[in-house]
Amino acid sequence: MIDFRSDTVTHPSPQMREAISKAQIGDDVFGDDPSINSLEEMAADKLGKERALFVASGTMGNLVSILAHSNRGDEIIVGNKSHIFKYEAGGASALGGVAYHTVENKDDGKICPEDVLNAIRDSSDNHNPKTSMIALENTQNMCGGRVIDEAESKIFSDIAHENDLKFHIDGARIFNAAVKLDVDIKNLVDGADSVSFCLSKGLACPVGSIVCGDSEFIESARKWRKMLGGGMRQAGFLASAGIVALDSMVNRLSEDHDNAYKLAIGLSSLPHVNIDVDAVETNLVFFEIDFEYREILTNALNENNIKGASNKPRWRFATHYGIESSDIDITLDVMSSVLHG
Ligand SMILES: Cc1ncc(COP(=O)(O)O)c(C=O)c1O
Repeated sequence: MIDFRSDTVTHPSPQMREAISKAQIGDDVFGDDPSINSLEEMAADKLGKERALFVASGTMGNLVSILAHSNRGDEIIVGNKSHIFKYEAGGASALGGVAYHTVENKDDGKICPEDVLNAIRDSSDNHNPKTSMIALENTQNMCGGRVIDEAESKIFSDIAHENDLKFHIDGARIFNAAVKLDVDIKNLVDGADSVSFCLSKGLACPVGSIVCGDSEFIESARKWRKMLGGGMRQAGFLASAGIVALDSMVNRLSEDHDNAYKLAIGLSSLPHVNIDVDAVETNLVFFEIDFEYREILTNALNENNIKGASNKPRWRFATHYGIESSDIDITLDVMSSVLHG
């Protein structure tokens, strides 16, 4: 099977499976799991933050960060195409009493600093909620896996700190951004009070995400994690895969980017496909198929064990560990034969 549905479908590497089978474990709720402790230290060190916390998912990482930075009745500023706003089931509102104030993500994923400044509330006026936090997504998923560089990130951290707000980065795929920009990841998260990143996407771990920040933030996030049911006891089995991922799965993300670009170039030469090749910066490829061909194409892809077709006009194919350059050739051949036929 060639599975383009998401980079979350990745299976652990042989080295990860080996590490999982030999993992040193303990009860992480007591702080006793040596593998979790090593992974958290390693992650904090890599991102240049004081401490880190292992959480069940990217959604949990974002949620504990929002809850740690906010009080009930506060408002957070997020992109209108951000994962936090669109795909996390309104958790900040439902569980934290925190409202979302959205600002526009442009087509390239960017947010206008002016819009963020205008969204910050004057909480001395009793009519207004208090703004607690600004969140930025890097890479920006729904706008095509777009990369945000350190200069741009700094604009938003400066705005946040000048206005006494916290700055959070949803860095589910921030290692993709660092590899693409060829920068030390520390620079990309320098001004962030908290960062979440996923082990379970391009880094190919079976489960887990990390949040990083200072000690006070991590203490608070740990408490929220417990409240959300995220204290996972002998989670060292999962952390051992995370350690392998941080050691050996980061640099290979460039292969996923190369495969995504190859796919984009191939798609751009096919009839009835609309794609902006220049928008493909990392491992996510968005494109549109003319309506009349969509069903025939979906059937052909399914028959060839290629997953990723959608019944919506806009399709997203994600490249990841497990998808080879030859899989891109096979996929393009199948699509070409339908669209030229
Ligand atoms: C940008 C972004 N943030 C957060 C998440 C949530 O991660 P999880 O699926 O592990 O909850 C995703 C998942 O796709 C994502 O793309």
